[in-house]
Amino acid sequence: MKFFVDSADVEEIGELAETGLIDGVTTNPSLVAKSGRNFLDVVKEICSIVDGPVSAEVTALDSKTMIEEGKKLKGLAENIAIKVPLTWDGLKACKALSDEGTMVNVTLCFSANQALLAAKAGATFISPFIGRLDDMGLDGMELIEEIRTIYDNYEGLNTQILAASIRSVNHVKQSALIGADVATVPGKVIKQLATHPLTDKGLDAFMKDWEKTGQTIL
Ligand code: E4P
Repeated sequence: MKFFVDSADVEEIGELAETGLIDGVTTNPSLVAKSGRNFLDVVKEICSIVDGPVSAEVTALDSKTMIEEGKKLKGLAENIAIKVPLTWDGLKACKALSDEGTMVNVTLCFSANQALLAAKAGATFISPFIGRLDDMGLDGMELIEEIRTIYDNYEGLNTQILAASIRSVNHVKQSALIGADVATVPGKVIKQLATHPLTDKGLDAFMKDWEKTGQTIL
């Protein structure tokens, strides 16, 4: 499973990228607003840190302007994936941009039928939002499962499932169990993936016993 960082915080992305465990980045207008920085500058900087796909979202609502914005964003770096919303105009823009060989991430997906359309429009990634469905008392993971089944039913559907709106380590585990291709995860949750109280407890005991030996390795 590939891991993307869901962030527009360059410092956070840089720190995580140093681990070599990060395969890409997703941004959205809310994350850019949170960064307080110029959108184009921040995207360019992220692309210089991470080799894999970096999603940059269009903000127009009509397909013609989405395509123009997509082309401008694509010009920022080789590894840009254009993010378009799952609307009819977004699907039209997805088809046009992907036909030209541009990576497209179709975002704000909340149903399996929407994911089917995105795949038919040539999307590189579909982003089903798990957390926002859970917030409504629905089951975000069920959506990932449905999309996996549909995509696996047809050889011609090669869109990668990018599990998004991930809020917990359990969301990551469940997405991996179902077989999502990618998970885009907030930095805080990525760090939590490595922790377990028994690891801390075990390490503490090992260190205390090691100290008793009076030895050093180096
Ligand atoms: C995905 O690309 C989105 O940026 C993100 O996962 C949205 O997450 P949220 O629902 O926590 O805002």
